[in-house]
Amino acid sequence: MNQIIKHCFLSPLRHIPGPLLARLTSKWLILVDLAGHRTETIHRLHRSAVRIGPNEVSFANIESVKELYGQRTASIKAPVYETFSIPPLGIFSLRDPSQHGQRRKLLSHAFSQSNLNDTEPLIVLQMQKLGVKVGASVGRPFDVLAGFRMFSLDVVGELFLGKSFGALDRDEPPTYLEDVDKHFLLCGLDASFPWLYSALSRIPVPAVQHFFRARQRLLKVANSDSTEAQLSDLETYVEIGNLVFAGTDSTTLTYLFWELARNPSWQEKIQKELETVHGGGREEVLTYDCVVELPVLNAVVNESLRVHPAAPASLPRETPPGGRILNNCFIPENTVVSMQCYTTQHDPTIYTDPDIWDPERWLSPSVLSFEWKELFMPFSKGLQACPGRNLALMKLKLVTAFLVDRYKVAVAPETTAESMAMRDHFLVVLKGGECKLVFWPVRKP
Ligand code: HEM
Repeated sequence: MNQIIKHCFLSPLRHIPGPLLARLTSKWLILVDLAGHRTETIHRLHRSAVRIGPNEVSFANIESVKELYGQRTASIKAPVYETFSIPPLGIFSLRDPSQHGQRRKLLSHAFSQSNLNDTEPLIVLQMQKLGVKVGASVGRPFDVLAGFRMFSLDVVGELFLGKSFGALDRDEPPTYLEDVDKHFLLCGLDASFPWLYSALSRIPVPAVQHFFRARQRLLKVANSDSTEAQLSDLETYVEIGNLVFAGTDSTTLTYLFWELARNPSWQEKIQKELETVHGGGREEVLTYDCVVELPVLNAVVNESLRVHPAAPASLPRETPPGGRILNNCFIPENTVVSMQCYTTQHDPTIYTDPDIWDPERWLSPSVLSFEWKELFMPFSKGLQACPGRNLALMKLKLVTAFLVDRYKVAVAPETTAESMAMRDHFLVVLKGGECKLVFWPVRKP
């Protein structure tokens, strides 16, 4: 009873609207999270601010972007980040700003422009292997989600371990990818219901045991060959695990090709645009220099990142000592505050018909508005923003140009809006677990 009075009537957050259950107990959000419905549930509730827990508020107003994710923000990552990895903590989970800053500096060489330039031949090599797989499937349903995941895994292996995982050389995706999927589910269960985690993990059924050992298997995959100075072997394991995890995200490419398959006119627009940069015949692999600034390709990539962001959900932060005024409301210190890019990028006042995938909007002058730029944040912003942004854009543009230049693509009957529905466990997971599309060679002129 005391808790009810405290959370509903005495809390400084009591004026912020939100579901009654969410005000009373943090378990409401945890259950929504474990079901994979966080993003959509919060999105449906959204106004400029919504209370999503006794001590947690989600914002969607433009002023909060700077306050939470600006270069000078005083808010730090929320405690939940520590539950995302096994100690010692890596870049993704370090909350202390100075430790996090030092780790980012140490890893910055991996994402530098010169490293990125050296990266292109490695990406092209894996892309050609992907092309062989697509070519072998012509006229038959091909699971692009599995294909893109194997591609991304091999690129990250090449870049950060100095050797490919060889995923594209096999017929089936390696079990490592399944372990990546299980990892966040297990983290959530362990952090929120440790007693349930502990009880379930003791069930002596081989399938259950296999599921619970996913985290241990993930750590073993990273090996210390590429140890960087100033990081212990174990810290290196963790960082490489982080990079492999973050870099194996392929849902953006999957949604991009699904949308192209549903919108053949955009395939033609990209093909026409690529004609303008082809110099050495149609068989050549276009370089990143050739495609990086192409407006139609850029519009297709940005629109896919807007409608289907790979990390759509809240990026939780904790308010600093003394609290903060956010959305004209005093938010006390140690409150968990967040924004989700899915909601800001589907704001109907900025993006007309926000649920419709329409790259044309990126070719209009609206893209220059402050609000447009500020609310488009698929890679987040500020000190903890994605360091892999340029690498991700390079992969997205190179692969799209490579495949669309060679193939037409259509949706296979088994792929439906229902099977493509978004579920999220921090990163997006497709409800159907696959995305089958059919490719045909483009008739060469
Ligand atoms: C479409 C592709 C990608 C998207 C949409 C994306 C998005 C994001 C977002 C939103 C964050 C911030 C998470 C937070 O604040 O909690 C993040 C962090 C991060 N991303 Fe990415 N990412 C992508 C690809 C990559 C790639 C290819 C790599 C590297 C191989 C990478 C490495 C990282 C790392 C290391 C962090 C943690 C940064 C930190 O905490 O300082 N990401 N990413």
